[in-house]
This record gives sequence, C-alpha cells and structure tokens, in this order.
Amino acid sequence: TTPVNAAAQAAGKLYFGTATDSSEFTNGDRYYPIFLTEFGQITPENSMNWNATEPEQGVFTFAGGDAVVALAQKYLQLIRGYSCVWYNQIPEWLANGTFTVAELTEIIQTHCGTLVGHYEGQICIFQAFQVLFHSLTFFDTDSWDVINEPFNDDGTWRSDVFYNTLDTSFVPIALEAASTADPNAKLYINDYNIEFAGPKATAMMELIQTLKASGVPIHGVGLQCHFVLGQVPDDLQTIMEQFAALGVEVAVTELDIRMTLPATNELLIQQKADYQSVISACNAVPDCVGVTIWDYTDKYSWIPSAFPGQGEACPWDLNYNQKPAYDGIIAGF
Ligand code: XIL
Repeated sequence: TTPVNAAAQAAGKLYFGTATDSSEFTNGDRYYPIFLTEFGQITPENSMNWNATEPEQGVFTFAGGDAVVALAQKYLQLIRGYSCVWYNQIPEWLANGTFTVAELTEIIQTHCGTLVGHYEGQICIFQAFQVLFHSLTFFDTDSWDVINEPFNDDGTWRSDVFYNTLDTSFVPIALEAASTADPNAKLYINDYNIEFAGPKATAMMELIQTLKASGVPIHGVGLQCHFVLGQVPDDLQTIMEQFAALGVEVAVTELDIRMTLPATNELLIQQKADYQSVISACNAVPDCVGVTIWDYTDKYSWIPSAFPGQGEACPWDLNYNQKPAYDGIIAGF
C-alpha cells in the first residue's frame, strides 16, 4: 500500500504525520517500522510541553524533545514544535504562582525564547532537502504551536495564569519571543472546537485579525480535530477557507475519531468515512498544509483515559493492524 505520507505529498500537501514520544518509538515492537514507513512529520506528544522542558524556573531539560528531533533528522521527517504556552501540562511553580505583569512577561519570553531557540535550525535543516524536492517553500516547514487552547468553548478567554495576569497580551508576548528565537519558524495558534462555525471559531478568527493588524507574527492556525464518530463538521472545509482568507495557513494537528466501545464493523466503516471527510476537506484547501494524527495506533491513544468508555480512535488498532480508517485516509487525498 501507499504510505499515507506519500499519498499526502502526491496530493500537494507537505506531510502526513503523527504524534509520538520516545517511549513509543523505542518500545521494540512493530511501532517503529510502521512509524518510519508511513509518516513524514512528527509532533512530540508531551515532551516539549512546559512541565517537561522547564520543570523548575530557569532550569531547562530537553532530553525528551531532543530524542524526537534526533529521530526526525535521521529519517528526514518534519517536526512540529509543541507547545510553548498552554494552560495544561505546566509546572506547579507556574500554575500556582502569583506574578506581576513584568515577571510573567519575562517568564514567557524566557520560556518561549529558550525552547524555540534550542530547536532553531535543528528542526528545519534536514527537512529542507525533503521539501526542496516537493515545493520551493524552503524555509516554510519549521512549525511551532506557540499558543495552545487559549479559548473556552463559548469563545471567552480561558482563565489561567497567563490570561489572568496578562490579559490577552500573553499571546503577542509569546509569538514575538518565538519569532525572535527562530525568525524562519511558522508560528501557530492551535485549538479544538474551532473546526466548525460557532463562538470559539469566531473568537479565533478575531484574534488572528487583531494580531495581523498589529503586526504580530502569526502564520498558522492548527485545527486539532479530536472528533466523535459521525460528527465530523459539515463546514470543516469552509472554516479552513475562512482561516486561510485571513492570511494564515491551516493544519490538521491532532486528528483522531473516537467511538463508544465496543467497536463494530459498522462503526469502523463509519470511521473510515469520517477520516476520509477530514482528509478531503484539507485536500480541497490549498492553504491546508498537512495532517497530523494524535498517535497512529490505538495502543497509545490518549482517548480511553481521557474519555472512559470510548476509544478505537486511531487508523491502526492495538495490534498495529490497519483499520478501514486507513483506506479512508488514502481515499481522501
Ligand atoms: C494529550 C496527550 O495525548 C496525553 O498523552 C496527555 O496525557 C494529555 O494530553 N489536546 C491537546 C493535546 O492539545 O496536548 C492533548 O494531548 C490532547 C488534547
């Protein structure tokens, strides 16, 4: 069969990728060969988040992220840096701290600058060869999810240490710091429930417009796409087009499609159609640059622990067998 990355690139996309971390690709079983064969891009699932990279203030640890980047460089996979500023997976000192505006500004600048700076060049140097043969967007492939999940579902700002201390200015502070650390990186804001028309998508569009109008570096919007079986939004393509019209690229960053267990053949066939719908939407929008699934095998999916009773969200099952969803992906490109 055609690897999903090859199918994506044949359709003019930059990549088809998966979330991973070193505990998965070093486990010694079939994970690794499939991972190398099928995917052209990886997102470190947890290892670049704040609690992993700056567990104590000013003390940076990059071992987990470095392992992911080393693998990507060896096999010419693209990397999505993930993430700089997110309310979740942050260390206690930050989550429960009380900071002045000046203090938290500096904390964000130091964190984003050090994290993005650590991987500057590393993330794009080998990709350049791959991308050169594919398109001439030579420096366009070093992407960072600088801001993750800033909004509540009703479109209001999430109450966290960042917003509560800095109001909305934490967004430009982080983006500017990331841009200074790596001027060639594509800087993204990433969220869920912005894949369909509603207050959260509107809030994201207004934020992008505001940032653009004030000259803040923002290059992309990540649509997480953690979907429920049978509920892929009908207007996914339209939403992608609306974001693109604001002058940003879009990417499907965390795709999975969960179902209430147990899976049946009928449900798996519906899942195939759902995966195909998502891929078709991206395929139809030139500014949708690529698709990342939130791990490729049900063995490592976050869904069963986050949504008890649900699962089977990935295109490969627990035993690394392709599910009908795999064919849906290929058919979508
Ligand atoms: C999840 C990871 O997959 C899990 O390993 C972790 O325990 C919790 O976070 N939206 C996001 C991701 O932005 O970072 C989340 O990842 C899934 C939801």
